[in-house]
Amino acid sequence: QRPSATILFIFGGSGDLNLRKLTPALYNLYLDNYLSDQFAVVGLGRSEYTDESFRERLLEGVQSFSRRKDDLEATWKSFSTAISYLQMDAGDAGAYSKLSDFVAAKEGEWGGPANIVFYLAVAPQLVPGIATNLGKLELCCDKSRVRIVVEKPFGHDLKTAQELNALLGGLFAEEQIYRIDHYLGKETVQNILALRFANSLFEPIWNRRYVEYVQITASETVGLEGRGGYYEGSGALRDMIQNHLLQMLCMVATEAPISFDANEVRNKKVDVLNAIRRIKPEQVKDVAVRGQYGPGQKNGKAIPGYREEEGVQPDSKTETFAAVKLFVDNWRWEDVPFYLRTGKSLPEKATVINIQFKPAPNYAFPDEATENWSSNQLTIGIQPAMDIRLRFQAKRPGQTLAIDPVEMVFSYKEAYKEQEPEAYETLLLDVMTGDATLFMRADQVEAAWKVVTPILEAWESDTVDFPNYEPGSWGPDAAQQLVEKDGFQWMMK
Ligand code: BG6
Repeated sequence: QRPSATILFIFGGSGDLNLRKLTPALYNLYLDNYLSDQFAVVGLGRSEYTDESFRERLLEGVQSFSRRKDDLEATWKSFSTAISYLQMDAGDAGAYSKLSDFVAAKEGEWGGPANIVFYLAVAPQLVPGIATNLGKLELCCDKSRVRIVVEKPFGHDLKTAQELNALLGGLFAEEQIYRIDHYLGKETVQNILALRFANSLFEPIWNRRYVEYVQITASETVGLEGRGGYYEGSGALRDMIQNHLLQMLCMVATEAPISFDANEVRNKKVDVLNAIRRIKPEQVKDVAVRGQYGPGQKNGKAIPGYREEEGVQPDSKTETFAAVKLFVDNWRWEDVPFYLRTGKSLPEKATVINIQFKPAPNYAFPDEATENWSSNQLTIGIQPAMDIRLRFQAKRPGQTLAIDPVEMVFSYKEAYKEQEPEAYETLLLDVMTGDATLFMRADQVEAAWKVVTPILEAWESDTVDFPNYEPGSWGPDAAQQLVEKDGFQWMMK
């Protein structure tokens, strides 16, 4: 669907998110003819730019980060006429009339009303002030055409998330608020619902009777990349598990929606979050593991420890690795463990979901035939490998009876010639067309905070012996034990 006339204001216009993600995504949408002919994007910020110098800055971002650069010179020239820059201090309430003036002028030029999107690509502490100032604008009363996009982190804990929801809820209707979790925009994450509910094969076995456990890993090789200031106050549990990993868990665990209506899908997902067993304070040590990388070597290169990164305290307690074991207490999933892990400075950059099925009973095959006996497993490669792999057992060719695990593989790259859109392309298009399915509703965010709160509180009040893992390793030993004590291994591949 192509959006109607749209004006997109980006607070933090000269910032990293716009440079790396938003403008490249808009440019790709333009190339794919997904933008309205009446489209304007306005960067807002305190830095000094003319429209021209702002466009030049954004072009650098497109050159480096766009997935497509076909005929860049010519296409950029026509696309970038839609871009302008307004210098303003977002803390100055008086400056917001510039936005209304811009809208009035554009609508005059276009001869009719436009959808207006305010994208807050700013540090979280600036969000309440900007939202409050926007809420005072007369044009924001028009709920049908004004939307506000808020980036993560959404709150620092349950209380601050509730406060932020209350503040935004007092200024905007829930349908106007788009809370981004960029993982939900990834093709492979969206495909989980297609895999489950557009096939009759998987759903009958997608439950506690057949599934032994589920694992979700999001590992990163990088350390902080200059984000120490933010990360130091966050940590892996807040940064990745509270949002991206729990959202993927919801996609795996949800009941079938009866439609793809935004609220229907989100109702079903919030049911999953609400069904996650609450962890008691005394259980935290048994079900949650935290780690922080120390100094070390990776590929022969010296890597500074987390505590030596800029913006990080020399005695920091912030975790750069977290693993948790959760249960979803409902009819479908009772007693099936969901293991989630994520971390920085690990051996690979990969996000993978493993669904391990219960082993087949082996009465018939002789012992020597079953040395490699292994359970069926469905592996969903979210990134960078975008694939789905089903492991099953087969007879090794030959005169002796032997059983080996083999794989059936669906690979996006082989099945589809077209390159998939980036998450931000999908999400920006959805905001412009008014589809909130892939965005977090207030109750989802709060339900997710409720899941991690007992862990955060226990970690806060406890001492910890950091650093406790080598850069380039799979995290602290305790993360292995978390699955090994249940008789399993971390899977991924
Ligand atoms: C962000 C986190 O939300 O997701 C980052 O704040 C993390 O710390 C990033 O690096 C990972 O996203 P992706 O899409 O690269 O897996």
